This record gives sequence, structure tokens and C-alpha cells, in this order.
Amino acid sequence: MNNKESRKINLYGASGHAKVILDIIASTGDVEVAYFFDDDESITSLLGHEVLSPSDHQDQLNQYPLIISVGSNSVRKQLVNRLESNLFSKALIHSSAQVSEAIAIKEGSVVMPLAVINTSSIVGKHCIINSGAVVEHDCELGDFVHISPNATICGGVQIGKGTHIGAGAILIPNISIGENCVVGAGTVVINDLPNHTKAVGNPARPIQ
Ligand SMILES: CC(C)(COP(=O)(O)OP(=O)(O)OC[C@H]1O[C@@H](n2cnc3c(N)ncnc32)[C@H](O)[C@@H]1OP(=O)(O)O)[C@@H](O)C(=O)NCCC(=O)NCCS
Repeated sequence: MNNKESRKINLYGASGHAKVILDIIASTGDVEVAYFFDDDESITSLLGHEVLSPSDHQDQLNQYPLIISVGSNSVRKQLVNRLESNLFSKALIHSSAQVSEAIAIKEGSVVMPLAVINTSSIVGKHCIINSGAVVEHDCELGDFVHISPNATICGGVQIGKGTHIGAGAILIPNISIGENCVVGAGTVVINDLPNHTKAVGNPARPIQ
């Protein structure tokens, strides 16, 4: 594979989230997208790029490593499990994001414009750190976590796998959020949340 070929990736998922990932890719120039795919055959183009049906284009699908460009944590996880033999081995980070050298960020994760990840934090696989979100120092995020735009995760917070933190939410320092939780937009979380909790408000209260 020549240099140019080795920089190519495929995107799987062609909705709004994929458009932002395209902006990340354009901002760094480290990789370029060869083919776009979506399971929904009614989606045929994305920002002028042809979107292919994966079942009809297996050769192209297998030709380059994939980034799963889907915002939903559960759908992204299903696709990762289905397509795990051919996934991109790095994270994608927008050039305007402020990411400390002293963090670990695992494969398939994406960091959107103006996000901040401070020192000594760990971001799991296939996470989304959305536009303007702040992940302070010494945080630990499990796989498939989504931190929505402008959410603030203060220092020393732990977030279990599959959890979605809504837009503009605030998590005070040193708390622990369980797996597969949902924290509503604008919620202020001041205590630990057990697995599978959905919480809203200030201070956060669990809802069904
Ligand atoms: C938390 C959330 C998932 C709840 O959705 P839901 O399960 O459909 O809940 P409902 O809309 O039925 O609301 C249930 C109750 O919670 C309240 N509620 C819902 N979201 C709330 C929020 N963010 N803040 C405060 N209260 C909220 C509703 O007013 C309702 O209260 P009531 O029972 O007293 O009438 C959703 O409202 C939310 O905030 N999602 C985050 C979206 C987001 O940030 N996306 C970012 C994409 S990049």
C-alpha cells in the first residue's frame, strides 16, 4: 500500500455526526475518506459524497479501515461489534481541540472542535467528546461514552461505558457515574449515579 492509500479510511454512518467527523478530517489532513456507507438505503449522499449500501459494496467496505460515524452510543456499539475486524486503529481529533499530551485516548474515539481534554485523563474506545466539551484532569471515561456539546466534566470524574452526558451538563469533581446512564441536557450532577440511571435537573434527580 502506498502512502496515500494507507491514509485512507471509510466512514460508516452518514448523518449529521458524520458531517462533523468530515470537518475533523479536513482540519488535520492526516487521513482522507475513500467511501461512505450507511445501512439506511434511503441515504444516498452526504455533503455531495455518494453513500454506498454496505451489503452491495463489500469489496469497498473491506478495502480501508472504518470509523463508525454514528452518534448513538448503542448503535455505535452494535456496529463496532459487527465490523470489528476492520476498524481504524486511532482516534480522530479536530485541530482546534485542546488535548493534553499526557492523556490516553483509545481507538475509534472522536474529539470535536474546541473540546478540551486535560492532563492525566483516559478516554476509552469509540467515545465522542463533542464540540466545546471539557474533560478536566484525571477523568476516566469508559468505552462508548458520549460527552455532548459544552458539557463540563470536572477533575477526577469516572464515567462508565455507554453513558451519555447531555449538552451543557456539569459533573462536579471526583464523582462516579455508572455504565449506560443518561444525564439530561443542562443537568448538574453532584453525587455518584449507579448503572443505568437517567438523571435530570439541578441538582440531578433520577427519572424513569
Ligand atoms: C434526559 C432526556 C434523555 C430525557 O428524555 P425522556 O426520557 O424522553 O424524558 P421526558 O422528555 O419524557 O421527560 C421526563 C421528565 O424529565 C424532565 N426532563 C427531561 N429532560 C430534562 C432536562 N434535560 N432537564 C430537566 N428536566 C428534564 C421532563 O420535563 C419530564 O418531567 P415531568 O415528568 O415532571 O414532566 C432528554 O430530555 C435530554 O435531556 N437529552 C439530552 C439530549 C442532548 O443533550 N443531546 C446532545 C446531542 S449531541
